[in-house]
Amino acid sequence: MKIIKRGAEAILYLENDHLVKERIKKSYRIPQIDEKLRKLRTRKEAKLTLRAKRCGVETPKIISIDENNFKITMEFVDGKRLKEFLNETNDENRKKIVEELGKKVGLLHKNGIIHGDLTTSNMILKDNKIFFIDFGLGEISKRIESQAVDLSVLKEAFKSTHFKHLNLLWKNFIKGYKQTNDNFNKVLDTLNDIEKRGRYVKR
Ligand SMILES: Nc1ncnc2c1ncn2[C@@H]1O[C@H](COP(=O)(O)OP(=O)(O)O)[C@@H](O)[C@H]1O
Ligand SMILES: [Mg+2]
Repeated sequence: MKIIKRGAEAILYLENDHLVKERIKKSYRIPQIDEKLRKLRTRKEAKLTLRAKRCGVETPKIISIDENNFKITMEFVDGKRLKEFLNETNDENRKKIVEELGKKVGLLHKNGIIHGDLTTSNMILKDNKIFFIDFGLGEISKRIESQAVDLSVLKEAFKSTHFKHLNLLWKNFIKGYKQTNDNFNKVLDTLNDIEKRGRYVKR
């Protein structure tokens, strides 16, 4: 068994060339609640992964779901995480890729999908296509606030992981996002409010 990652919530390993994501037990949680939560997130992750694909956003193919063992078996996307790609490539590619990323996130939002953990560790670039993974904290919602929170998480990820390129990344991301989410004005206003609140709380 080749372990890809042992995360806080799940272990990921390869089995017959497929990737298995198995949510592991958290002993600090009450057992019944722990099982409920792991089952819920497994179910949600599979559901949103499929739903995103139907909206024209690349996600790994789901091979099987085993809710009772908290496992999803999916296509192994043999590419590079956006986290590494964005730091290693040149500005021209950065612009192109984040504009595309913006279009795809806009498409998710337009279709009522909130990702819930939009960081560049949860996006894999393969053959110039961006695959979205890790939907376990997502939800189905068209609320402007939820969309704005999604963007705020992404912006924080840009700040912490790609600080040197923050302006270029954000500007071109928004350029793409505006093309697919008609509500972008409201979302960006709300994001502004969230950021103001954040600054106020930090002081
Ligand atoms: N379908 C996949 N194909 C290739 N790599 C994957 C796939 N799913 C996850 N990974 C790798 O495993 C890491 C953790 O997976 P993820 O679903 O984000 O779990 P976590 O909840 O631990 O963040 C990802 O950052 C990525 O490197
Ligand atoms: Mg992740």
